[in-house]
Amino acid sequence: MPSVSCALAAAAALLLANPVAGGVMPPPRDVARYKWLVNAGSNASEPQQVHASFGEDPMTSLQFVWSTRTAADTILRFGEAGKPMTSIANGTSTPFDEPVQFIHRAAATGLRAGTTYSYVVGSPAGGWSNVSTMTTAPVPGSPEAGALVFAVYGDMGLDNERSLAWLVKDVEAGAFDAVLHVGDLGYDLDSDGGLRGDAFMNSIAPITARVPYHTMPGNHEIEGGTFKAYRSRFWMPASNDALYHSIDVGNAHFSMISSEMYFAISEYGLLMMPEQFTWLEKDLAAVDRTKSPWLVLMLHRPMYCQDDDSQGDACHTLTNPTRVGYFGQYALEPLLLKYGVDLVVGAHEHFLGLSKVLYNNNASTAVMSNQTDGSILFRNPGAPVHILAGSAGCPEKLDVLSPTQPEWSAGAWDVYGYGYLSFPSASRATWSFRNDTDGSIINRLEFQQDHHGPFAA
Ligand SMILES: [Fe+2]
Repeated sequence: MPSVSCALAAAAALLLANPVAGGVMPPPRDVARYKWLVNAGSNASEPQQVHASFGEDPMTSLQFVWSTRTAADTILRFGEAGKPMTSIANGTSTPFDEPVQFIHRAAATGLRAGTTYSYVVGSPAGGWSNVSTMTTAPVPGSPEAGALVFAVYGDMGLDNERSLAWLVKDVEAGAFDAVLHVGDLGYDLDSDGGLRGDAFMNSIAPITARVPYHTMPGNHEIEGGTFKAYRSRFWMPASNDALYHSIDVGNAHFSMISSEMYFAISEYGLLMMPEQFTWLEKDLAAVDRTKSPWLVLMLHRPMYCQDDDSQGDACHTLTNPTRVGYFGQYALEPLLLKYGVDLVVGAHEHFLGLSKVLYNNNASTAVMSNQTDGSILFRNPGAPVHILAGSAGCPEKLDVLSPTQPEWSAGAWDVYGYGYLSFPSASRATWSFRNDTDGSIINRLEFQQDHHGPFAA
């Protein structure tokens, strides 16, 4: 992984100096090649599907997952970039039957903040992965923390994966430092006896082996209420089987939860929704806003949406359970005010959507202004702004926007792509979106928040 300063330079070039230039279009990805990779290598114990996330302390730990077709030892070798990989972490492997493989997990701990490490995973007998790099989170408030860029998207499949080529091009250029995938991965991980899951994981490996890749489940991960393939393949720090977790990285705290708790009650059990709600309230209450001033809630199904209602999704209704809960219980939207959540990011609907400053279906334009460079500035919002980024590309194609946009909408775009989110300082955050059709950068937003904390009711 390139240094943070490289990422800053690349991001600045992308987002500021030349905001509408897309550069050279990347070549289309070859889906057939991904399927071949399912059985890649003559050695069935050769690592594949390598992916990583930040560990429980993102400044000092990273955690890695990979698969082998047959049993093999679980070893992570690492060292600071440019030095020998003399550190070794032994992990664990678990048999997985869809399709038959062994899923390995190992963590590197005791690392230095904001430092790039070289690593390989595998075993002497089974073989090793290619050498790659991964970088720990920098110290909050540092210049490096302000330079971090997060790629944000949901709903990316193995087919019609429109953003993938751009993402690979970006990660190779150091244009982002971590990915936040807001649910719906692979369509579906368990399809074709799980071979589709293998192929998807290999398709994103050029990204997941280079930067921490954080996920939360969407409806395509429910798998009859078991979330089996998702829970087995992904390992998130301090999480409940990767169903919900949070990280403090740079100048932001990200709480990533499962909206499916609100929609798969009959399959998944009534206990999960209260458990997650209790966890989330504790998580939000515990955020030290002097260290993590920006607060972001991410969940697959959005609280609000601007497309047509052909599928009858709850985001079109005033009774969306993620907003208002059930019988007044477990409602998430009041937590946004109580703890001063700055941004809510959803996906599930396949377009790019932006709200005004929004709470309880009431929007305010008072703090929004158009800037001379074409961006929108939100100055000291008194409630969250909602972003919907569910169009990284999947077999379901794009959704059709409603011809009559709701009063709270600040814009909707029927385009494929993904967002760049950054937090340059305690008082400033930025968002922009890569339009995959022509590579242009659209929807450039700037947030100014001078006093983080609970919003007034
Ligand atoms: Fe979805």
